[in-house]
Amino acid sequence: MEIKKIAVLGAGQMGNGIAHVCAQAGYEVKMRDIEQKFLDKGLAAITKNLERGLKKGRITQEEIDAILGRIEPVLDLGDSVKDADLVIEAIPEIVKLKLETWGEVDKTAPEHAILASNTSSISITQMAAVTNRPEKFIGMHFFNPVPVMGLVEIIKGQATSDETVKVIEDVSAKIGKETVLVNEAPGFAVNRLLVPALNEAVFVIQEGIATVEDMDKAIKLGLNWPMGPLTLMDFVGLDTALYISDYFVDEFKDSKYRAPALLRKMVRAGWLGRKSGRGFYDYSGDEPKPIRF
Ligand SMILES: NC(=O)c1ccc[n+]([C@@H]2O[C@H](COP(=O)([O-])OP(=O)(O)OC[C@H]3O[C@@H](n4cnc5c(N)ncnc54)[C@H](O)[C@@H]3O)[C@@H](O)[C@H]2O)c1
Repeated sequence: MEIKKIAVLGAGQMGNGIAHVCAQAGYEVKMRDIEQKFLDKGLAAITKNLERGLKKGRITQEEIDAILGRIEPVLDLGDSVKDADLVIEAIPEIVKLKLETWGEVDKTAPEHAILASNTSSISITQMAAVTNRPEKFIGMHFFNPVPVMGLVEIIKGQATSDETVKVIEDVSAKIGKETVLVNEAPGFAVNRLLVPALNEAVFVIQEGIATVEDMDKAIKLGLNWPMGPLTLMDFVGLDTALYISDYFVDEFKDSKYRAPALLRKMVRAGWLGRKSGRGFYDYSGDEPKPIRF
């Protein structure tokens, strides 16, 4: 089966990155969000990222125009998926929202279309079960920022067919990503490790053991991470990290995955990290400024 047209649901941090790399690889992309302002923000992010490549001489203006010309912003869900060969979903990490959306998508997307979720933690089998094509349902977990990061973690649900896996491996290769294939489990392989690690860094702050900048410096230099855990938490989005932690506790029935109270409090205050301008750092100036807790 050949994939030509891709619908990307969500124009946020992940959705706009996925739309970008798919259009860059030559796919026709429809990018859907629920309000025009989110589509505009997503398109502006793609344009800015491509222009960064232009300054570095990695891409020409003609190529940028062609890539942007292959991305159609769409508000109506039905319109976005009605002629898609592949639907990639990158909407918020809320189980109810994802299940409702997949139920709708299944009614309108062509019968042959493969459905892929970029969820960070939620069961692929549970989402597949609200569709009439569980064998065509799969997890396609990208990493942030999508144009930069080299991996797609492919997740097989209970009913996902080998043919669906093969198509998604081929699409991932075409957009320049390496893949790993893992089985269904909350958080799959990568976030099973990452989310508890990031939460533990927040516990360190909450308990007054280290400052934000010292915790990041310690892990960067001491463990050779490319960025500290609190900087990474701000990149991921504090709301997303909290949704995943709560989902882990529900699924594993194990309190070791619990989110720190500080994380919940920050999300309630709207401090979501880079995307809201404030998280463990304040992003309003030229340089991120660590917050004192
Ligand atoms: N942030 C990360 O580092 C990361 C990494 C891998 C996977 N993910 C996963 O990707 C998904 C999206 O995360 P994000 O960081 O891009 O979040 P985000 O908040 O930046 O973007 C979500 C977007 O979805 C839109 N949206 C809400 N309901 C919608 C609907 N019904 N249809 C279409 N769009 C809708 C929102 O308006 C928003 O623009 C989540 O499942 C998250 O767990 C995130």
